[in-house]
Amino acid sequence: MRILVLHGPNLNLLGQREPNVYGVQTLDSINQQLHSQAQALGVEVVCQQSNHEGVLVDWIQQAVGKFDGLLINPGAYTHTSLAIADAIRATGLPTVEVHLSNIYARETYRHHSWIAPVAVGQISGFGAASYRWGLAALVTYLQQSSAHSPST
Ligand code: DQA
Repeated sequence: MRILVLHGPNLNLLGQREPNVYGVQTLDSINQQLHSQAQALGVEVVCQQSNHEGVLVDWIQQAVGKFDGLLINPGAYTHTSLAIADAIRATGLPTVEVHLSNIYARETYRHHSWIAPVAVGQISGFGAASYRWGLAALVTYLQQSSAHSPST
């Protein structure tokens, strides 16, 4: 099973960016933890980050046939990007949305997510652990759906 992990804008700055909100862990360190967790779960993860909406859309489109699921922290595009939501909807890739901070406990403009309606679910507010639980949730979801699919 292969999982694509996408990090959106400004997440390359983790570790130095508003550590009181996002913690002190760097993106590299989060990715390393996801790789170890994936190995333990017997799945493969590929982690990529972009500050550009269109690049994220391209990567989601290109994931079809190569990946079984998508774990995404869309950053600020969560609140603005119909294009990313449409790409997820168009590809039908099972998606889990994650956020380091609890977006519902912050400014009201962060309360709306374009991604949530096209995601299997969302994990928000647990710092780097949001990614770990997000990966565990996505893998469990994919295993359950393949176990119940008529072709298996
Ligand atoms: C974020 C929350 C977003 O509102 C913000 O724009 C981010 C990070 C999070 O992980 O908490 O860039 O997605």
